[in-house]
Amino acid sequence: MENKKFYITTPIYYPSANFHIGHCYTTIIADAIARYKRLDGYDTYFLTGSDEHGQKIQKKAEEAGVSPQEYVDKIVDNAKDLWKELGISYDQFIRTTDKNHKKIVQKIFTKLYEQGDIYKGEYKGLYCTPCESFWTESQLNEGKCPDCGRDVHEVTEEAYFFKLSKYQKRLEEHIEEHPEFIQPVSRKNEMINNFIKPGLEDLCVSRTSFTWGVPVEFDKGHVVYVWIDALSNYISALGYLSEDDSLFKKYWPADIHLVGKEIVRFHTIIWPIILMALDLPLPSQVFGHGWLIIDGGKISKSLGNYKDPREYIKDYGVDALRYFVLREVPFGSDGNFSESALIDRINGDLANILGNLVNRTVGMVNKYFDKIVPEQKELQEIDKNLIENAITLKDRVDKNIESLDISSALEEIIELCRKCNKYIDETEPWVLAKSDELKERLGTVLYNLLDSIRIVSTMLIPFLPTTSDLIFKELNIDINSFDKVKEFNVLKSETTLNEPVILFNRVDKKEKLGE
Ligand code: MSP
Repeated sequence: MENKKFYITTPIYYPSANFHIGHCYTTIIADAIARYKRLDGYDTYFLTGSDEHGQKIQKKAEEAGVSPQEYVDKIVDNAKDLWKELGISYDQFIRTTDKNHKKIVQKIFTKLYEQGDIYKGEYKGLYCTPCESFWTESQLNEGKCPDCGRDVHEVTEEAYFFKLSKYQKRLEEHIEEHPEFIQPVSRKNEMINNFIKPGLEDLCVSRTSFTWGVPVEFDKGHVVYVWIDALSNYISALGYLSEDDSLFKKYWPADIHLVGKEIVRFHTIIWPIILMALDLPLPSQVFGHGWLIIDGGKISKSLGNYKDPREYIKDYGVDALRYFVLREVPFGSDGNFSESALIDRINGDLANILGNLVNRTVGMVNKYFDKIVPEQKELQEIDKNLIENAITLKDRVDKNIESLDISSALEEIIELCRKCNKYIDETEPWVLAKSDELKERLGTVLYNLLDSIRIVSTMLIPFLPTTSDLIFKELNIDINSFDKVKEFNVLKSETTLNEPVILFNRVDKKEKLGE
């Protein structure tokens, strides 16, 4: 059998403040995809982590009166705890302050220098300290940083430069020949037209104005400037240029680098060029997702317009939060985060449609068949339609996952729940239950519902792992692969069910939000 591997990464986040719902968004999507691939039989590696160097963090630590290392340690502990609460199934959490990472960054930098791709020059630029970004005059927005709108200041210093221009043509060819490389397509066009076609300028890759970074091995007054340090995490984590590079051999190139739209540029221009210079294969895909926004603006650590994500988990449960972020942001564009919309999703999709279906069905089996899964007998047209719908669900979800349209993947699953609820309304089990002669028909109807619920909850594992577990418990089964999701009649009749539990409590919006 072909060795199916799958390597997915999130960006490594700046631990300049505790992570917010926006960081959760990328990480939950990556987690759902990683879980999906694992269930599909892929040998999957899921990497996330933190990008800990730079002037901004050095400054924050000074303000807090602690060393930069102490400062980031605390935030990283908090982040790991948050990922645990959210059920993030990462295989490795890389930190750019890891000894091994730093060593590899030095080796990469030295290698690029020795082969002539990095050279020494002088940097003059406009720098935005909070964003750690250099800008050219033309990129500014009314003289201010185009990302955050704050003042920039001019900086001149001796620096090393990376010859991006040398690889421009190869990069353009690669992007043209691999339409799947930058997704969604709109981002690909933006990269080509706005950044590559106008011509790539060589990139400043070292700084002397701060010390919190990886020192350049052969010129210790310089630290490696953010992007070579940060981007290299995707290969340093796998042991590239290390004694043990077995993970690198197994998993590189990455299948998906999942990133927010604002850093697509770095991942589709600088990163591929670094890899080309290192003579390494390029990742199969960089996917730039939209943002979660609050009241039309970006959720931002610096603006402080958000709550600790744990508060939502505490109030609504982890799967409600996972569901919301996965479902709410339409494919490739931005989505609005609000507690009111979160409650609507809970009350609608989760409580009314999914929760109600499971609760009603298990409740009826318990009531009419004394908790024992009935037998499926003769099928009618209405049953065949439902079964056909259920066993083809995986194909429909697969298609959406393939294009990373997670929101539509979830909509497909909820749609099957809707169909099941409609099936209940049309077959009217409570009427069938009134007559002994119809008991066999009642058994068939409930069996079809139970086995459809098995398929629904199996498909939900990657997205709502806690809820799936609860449903499996009710059905008294153990499922941890997609193996039987395209089959029907899998649930054994005669199995004893457990008591139904409330999967999602309806939330009284008025009471909660005063709306
Ligand atoms: N450290 C760099 C990335 C280096 S990757 C080699 C960085 N860090 S960051 O802390 O600013 O995180 C940026 C990423 O967090 C975004 O690309 C995105 O994936 C995620 N998000 C941060 N805010 C977000 C929203 N409001 N909405 C959705 N995603 C958001 O850039």
